[in-house]
Amino acid sequence: MKFFIVTYGCQMNVHESEKIAGILEKLGYECGQSREEADIIVFNTCAIREGAEDRVLGNVGALKRLKKKNKNLIIAVCGCMTQKSKTAEYLLSTFPFIDIVIGTFNIPKLGDYIEAVKKGRQLELWEEGDIDEVLPYKRTSGENAWVNIMQGCNNFCTYCIVPYVKGREKSRQEENILAEVRAILSEGKYKKITLLGQNVNSYGKDLVPQVSFAKLLHDICKIEGDFVVSFMTSHPKDLTDDVIDAVANEEKIEKYIHLPAQSGNNRILRLMNRKYTREDYIKIIDKIKAKIPNCRLTSDFIVGFPTETEEEFEDTMSLVRYVRYDNIFAFMYSPREGTVASKMDGQVDDKVKHERVNKLLALEKELQKEVK
Ligand code: SAH
Ligand code: SF4
Ligand code: F3S
Repeated sequence: MKFFIVTYGCQMNVHESEKIAGILEKLGYECGQSREEADIIVFNTCAIREGAEDRVLGNVGALKRLKKKNKNLIIAVCGCMTQKSKTAEYLLSTFPFIDIVIGTFNIPKLGDYIEAVKKGRQLELWEEGDIDEVLPYKRTSGENAWVNIMQGCNNFCTYCIVPYVKGREKSRQEENILAEVRAILSEGKYKKITLLGQNVNSYGKDLVPQVSFAKLLHDICKIEGDFVVSFMTSHPKDLTDDVIDAVANEEKIEKYIHLPAQSGNNRILRLMNRKYTREDYIKIIDKIKAKIPNCRLTSDFIVGFPTETEEEFEDTMSLVRYVRYDNIFAFMYSPREGTVASKMDGQVDDKVKHERVNKLLALEKELQKEVK
């Protein structure tokens, strides 16, 4: 019996797929090389932009052919897209050959659902559960091991679907994270530990007693062994001095910070509910550059947020010119149903969004040439 997993979205989803693979191996499945030879195909989906959802729908649709050939093939769809009830219903009604639709919190129960399907049932269940600790992961990223330190997000940036599909922030207990890192290192084949969370800087605020992200970093670095520690993603509003100092002073921490700015304009940042200004952001960047010479910096930007004018977009361009990132990711704003920004007046034309994203990426290319 073979499984095949198709993963969309962020690193957290890639890691989630390692969990799914772990569950399926425990059930006796082996990792297959293609959809054609699989007995179960799992789509682990992303809902961050419309384009991500469209890709999933197209690829799920194409499975009809395989299901016709193999009546026993089990098709499961999980991940951020399925957590939206409208989308889950749409999936089930449009693609009657899908066997299982499960939300983001129910992956640990995948085995139960597979059993149920064998008796002919199609399921769609979700509820917010506790952050689980016991699952084996089938790690797939070579010398890098992903370690989840928290799930969910409390920030409600007005454009973003994540808080709605991943729930509120929940941090793992520090001792469980340390135990996992020790176990990973004792296997001897991993050289890098990458800590994952939508907003790692707010790690531990929900724990009793509270634990700071900086303390977690220091404690991980104390573990013996030859390894590098990295983390993502940082939210500028929560990137505290003690974390910058930890990156500066701990030899084991990679000198790299992904610090999404989203926009360089204060009015847009306010509308996005990012809770920092352009000036706050620049102050943090200056601090990082002063304390960590040669620190690699990357960022995400959204262009064409509702009501963004050409002048306001130019503020994003000038921020990119100022910081001189090692790389940037630029996205055209994509309205997500249920979010505050999707209901705002002044949605920007697709043509304008295209122009702006191209302009921003062209600028980044120019700057990268200059650096070399
Ligand atoms: N938690 C991370 C980001 C997760 S999503 C953070 O806050 O930095 C990754 C990136 O997708 C975001 O940084 C943002 O630039 C982009 N993004 C999120 N929602 C979007 C939307 N509705 N339209 C376009 N881009 C979006
Ligand atoms: Fe989305 Fe903002 Fe949370 Fe990042 S911090 S996941 S952009 S709501
Ligand atoms: Fe996408 Fe969910 Fe990650 S929406 S970006 S897979 S948290």
